[in-house]
Order: sequence, then structure tokens, then C-alpha cells
Amino acid sequence: MDLETAIENRKSYRAFSSRPVDQELVEEILRRAGRAPSALNVQPWEVTVVMGEELERLTRRLLRAYRERSVACTPGAVRPLPARFQKRRRDSFRPLARLLDREHLTLDAFVGEGSCRFYGAPVAILICMDEAFSKERYLCIGAFLGYLVLSAHDLGLATCPVGLISAYEEDIREQLNIPEAKRVVIGVAIGYGDESSPLSQFSTPRDPLEGYVRWFM
Ligand SMILES: Cc1cc2nc3c(=O)[nH]c(=O)nc-3n(C[C@H](O)[C@H](O)[C@H](O)COP(=O)(O)O)c2cc1C
Repeated sequence: MDLETAIENRKSYRAFSSRPVDQELVEEILRRAGRAPSALNVQPWEVTVVMGEELERLTRRLLRAYRERSVACTPGAVRPLPARFQKRRRDSFRPLARLLDREHLTLDAFVGEGSCRFYGAPVAILICMDEAFSKERYLCIGAFLGYLVLSAHDLGLATCPVGLISAYEEDIREQLNIPEAKRVVIGVAIGYGDESSPLSQFSTPRDPLEGYVRWFM
């Protein structure tokens, strides 16, 4: 697949088939993700791959934590967001909310619960970073994530980044024996997309360049 096709067609999936993913394929995705740029090439990412019964145990724990504490699905802003960002979020998820409404589900509940069970994907990846790094190094984790989702798409796999689970960092750390000194920055669900699900028809729009670019020349 050429890069342009991969970039244009990749999207987050929230319905996965139960078809297992070969370990070699996961390794190849992670190897390619590791080609991402990072400041001074320190490659601050540390990855935990969870599959099979371990994933079932982890999702059970996350769902329990979610039901006890139910963290809302928000962009995690520290101040109210300027109107155009709020509008993008509302407009992007309206079609999904309508679809869920037919099933008597709210978007918040679907995304909250769905994220905690990695939307039923057979592989969950947790990307961690040592606390010793400054917050600027999250940029490198972002680059790694970008490479990862594109590589997975190129190899025929579907992904959904799940940032929401970082709210349950302590539970994840305990369950997977991740040291205190590591931040669980983000998770990624990986598997074969369930194309028969109406949820897989959903994709998000993007603003044209004028929405986010200024030129000085
Ligand atoms: C840092 C980050 C965190 C995200 N967290 C979640 C999440 O917790 N749950 C979820 O369903 N999607 C999550 N997403 C997926 C976004 O909702 C999705 O990327 C966005 O709506 C754009 O849609 P697309 O990926 O289909 O292009 C996250 C994406 C990123 C980059």
C-alpha cells in the first residue's frame, strides 16, 4: 500500500472480529513504529503487549474500575476549549451518537466501556514512558503512535488508540506488573476490523487547511 492510500484510509475501529492476530505481525507493526523520530533518538517508548487470557483479565479489571469511577470521555483540557475545537468534536461524533441512540446507548457509555475492553480487539498495546522524561517527550510517544496505527493499517489490521484507560493507570500497573516509575501514556486496540458492524462504517471528517494553517510569506 502506498503511503498516501494508508494515510487517507486509516481510521479508528470500534468493532473487531475475533480472528486472532499472529505474534509476528504485531512484532512487525512495533518494529515499524520504532522507526518513528524521537528527540536525540532516545526512543522513550516502552511497550507492553497483552493478548489472550491476560487481556481478558485486564479488561475485567478495567471494566470494574470504570463502573466504580466512570471517568468521563473528555479531551482532558485544562481550560474550556475555544468554540471551533468543541464544534469539531461535536460534529465528528454526531453520526456515531445517532447510530448508538438506535441501540439505546449513549456515546459516553459506549466509548467509556468500549475503551476499557479495547473494543473486543484480540491485542492490546500499552505504550509507557519513564517518568524521568520531561513532558515534551510525549511528542515522541505521539510520533510512535502515528507510525504504529499507519503500519497496522498497511498490514491489514485495524486499530483504535485508547487514551481513556490512562485514568486507570494504577490498575493497569498492578495487573501487568509495570514499575511505578513508568507512566502508562496510551493504549492501542489492534485486530481485524469487523466490517459487518455498522460501527465500522463511521469515519471522522477533517477541516480543510484554512481551518488550521496560517501563512506568512
Ligand atoms: C491520544 C488519543 C487518545 C484517544 N483515546 C481514545 C479513547 O480513549 N477511546 C476511543 O474510542 N478513541 C480514542 N481515540 C481515537 C480518536 O477518537 C480518533 O483518533 C479521532 O476521533 C479521529 O478519528 P480517526 O482515528 O478514525 O481518524 C484517541 C486518539 C488519540 C490520538
